[in-house]
Amino acid sequence: MAKEQTLSIVKPDAVGNNNIGSIISYLEKSGLQVVAMKMLHLSKEQAGEFYAIHKERPFYGDLVKFMTSGPVLVMALEGENAVAQNRKVMGATNPEQAEVGTIRRDFAKTLDENAVHGSDSLDNAKIEINFFFKPNEICARTR
Ligand code: CMP
Repeated sequence: MAKEQTLSIVKPDAVGNNNIGSIISYLEKSGLQVVAMKMLHLSKEQAGEFYAIHKERPFYGDLVKFMTSGPVLVMALEGENAVAQNRKVMGATNPEQAEVGTIRRDFAKTLDENAVHGSDSLDNAKIEINFFFKPNEICARTR
């Protein structure tokens, strides 16, 4: 296994429900470490660009509307197999199909408002981390 970095977003529904701390706790308990973090309210342009890969999907408009409905918390996470590990802790995209004990099962209600986003591959993790963070905003864990 290799040490990787991945991007996590606590989405507007989970921020609004005051679940930031609980979600970070799930991530940390799984062994992932936060190496960068910021809260921001995405503009329509930022959300549209971040999710550009879904531009042709029927849910794109609603997705951009939801992601700009309130502030989000974006984090770079580091750990062994971080991309897969993060997705395991997040659970399935649809909370109804997410396993017990996962973030989406415990904090999300619908496919549209599913509490968290996580990069789906190492290549996309690099692109997504660069989207939100400058290299000098990533803090190496020296202890
Ligand atoms: P996320 O992992 O952030 O990536 C794209 C998001 O689109 C996804 O989580 C869902 O919240 C949202 N979405 C809405 N409808 C669908 C759908 N039918 N299939 C996949 N994702 C969807």
